[in-house]
Amino acid sequence: MLERIKQLLEEVSQLTAANPEEAEALRIRYLSKKGEISRLMEDFRTVPAEMKKELGMRINELKNRATERINELKAAAAAQETTADDVDLTRTPYPIAMGTRHPLTIVKNEIVDIFSRLGFTLAEGPEVEDDWHVYSSMNFADDHPARDMQDTFFVEAHPDIILRSHTSSVQARVMERTQPPIRVICPGRVYRNEAVSARAHCFFHQVEGLYVDKNVSFKDLKQVLLLFAQEMFGPETQIRLRPSFFPFTEPSAEMDVSCTICGGKGCSMCKGSGWLEILGCGMVDPAVLEANGIDSTIYTGYAFGMGIERIANLKYQVKDLRLFSENDVRFLEEFTAAN
Ligand code: PHE
Repeated sequence: MLERIKQLLEEVSQLTAANPEEAEALRIRYLSKKGEISRLMEDFRTVPAEMKKELGMRINELKNRATERINELKAAAAAQETTADDVDLTRTPYPIAMGTRHPLTIVKNEIVDIFSRLGFTLAEGPEVEDDWHVYSSMNFADDHPARDMQDTFFVEAHPDIILRSHTSSVQARVMERTQPPIRVICPGRVYRNEAVSARAHCFFHQVEGLYVDKNVSFKDLKQVLLLFAQEMFGPETQIRLRPSFFPFTEPSAEMDVSCTICGGKGCSMCKGSGWLEILGCGMVDPAVLEANGIDSTIYTGYAFGMGIERIANLKYQVKDLRLFSENDVRFLEEFTAAN
């Protein structure tokens, strides 16, 4: 009998079943009332008393092993069965949702990339700034309206500490620590105390450019900006410079590009004018060079500043500025392809 038990143990450990039916057949063969193990139990009644203990343990062990093994085979066969029937291997894979870059990041990267190719290097400065870097060193008179509480966010109890209202503060940061030649491009967030609406926000983003060296002239500025406009909006793009005023540049100009929608014929985007304003620029005022430790009798420079939202609006026709900061994935997902 011991031999028979050993043999069955061996058999059970090697059982296989290709499907649930085969597994069930094994259960009947080994574990049912008329199965191998029940038969052993019957023989067990006739064994001599002194052998009962050991044989009883052995039979129990066999029963447990057989039950375990057959249950395993049943589970495996059932799992296989669902795989085969329920999964359509010809279906296209479920799309994996990829994250998207924010449209402002896409546009910022594009701007920085264009100027990098012209030899500009990246510079950054703090968003929480002091009055000196945002206004005084940039030649703003003490009573200049931009310093007003209507425009500037002040840090409570520190009238000198403000949230920068333009990235021109980075010009000052760079000039105070570097002597020319200086050629930097400075992207960053700026803050203005405005009511939030579709067309204005209390924060937005700018990219500042600064070039200071010997013999830098207005024609260098114009050349670089034309190249930028054509890289950004296409080779047909034209630019137009209109005289303007900024405390930190003299002369100053505002630059328009030929309308990105109608190409200059006039449409609703450019309100019929054929032109779209995109940035402010000019020759760095000698007073600004001097305030920042650069000898204005040796060096001249140009600077420009543009709003990233503005450029993104022109590229993607986003009608409401608030979309840029709400992080609504339905909006962000539209830029998957632009990555
Ligand atoms: N700082 C100006 C603004 O915020 C833009 C500018 C930058 C103009 C550099 C001229 C030169 O509107």
